Amino acid sequence: MEKTLVILKPSCVMRGLIGEVLTRFERKGLHLIGLKMAQLTDEQLSEHYAHLAGKPFFQMLKDAMMASPVIVCAFEGLDAVEVVRSITGATNGRKAAAGTIRGDFSISGQENIVHASDSVENAKIELKRFFKDDEFFEYSTPMMPFLYAGDEV
Ligand code: TYD
Repeated sequence: MEKTLVILKPSCVMRGLIGEVLTRFERKGLHLIGLKMAQLTDEQLSEHYAHLAGKPFFQMLKDAMMASPVIVCAFEGLDAVEVVRSITGATNGRKAAAGTIRGDFSISGQENIVHASDSVENAKIELKRFFKDDEFFEYSTPMMPFLYAGDEV
């Protein structure tokens, strides 16, 4: 099973959308294996958004991510990285398809509610960045036979 990182950004936390957004992932059938509230630091965000370091909006983006605590989540599932990205939608909330989280809750390129890892490789790096080993939980759910076919898992 694949694991991926989701961060509910200040735009989610401050607008009172935590439950609403978590429900989207939960009802898809993704298995929550880690969850915590955290105040991110400039140092963590410089690392996390290193691919955007040259952009004019880099500091503004980091400041926006520090505007309130965030909710950091780890989800597990078959093809979890791709599944979570498709539920999340395109980066810019104005362009994201209706039915996606960003398409339904965001009208901004920056204030776009969630972060989701964009590849299996990055998911591994990002999960390590934001979680300690003992903050992951392994447990089974009785729903498994109704989430997946026997030959899928
Ligand atoms: P990026 O990693 O390109 O997108 P995604 O979050 O969909 O993986 O960008 C990271 C964040 O940077 C993005 O969620 C919002 C912000 N951002 C802007 O504010 N303006 C921009 O033009 C871009 C590309 C991103």
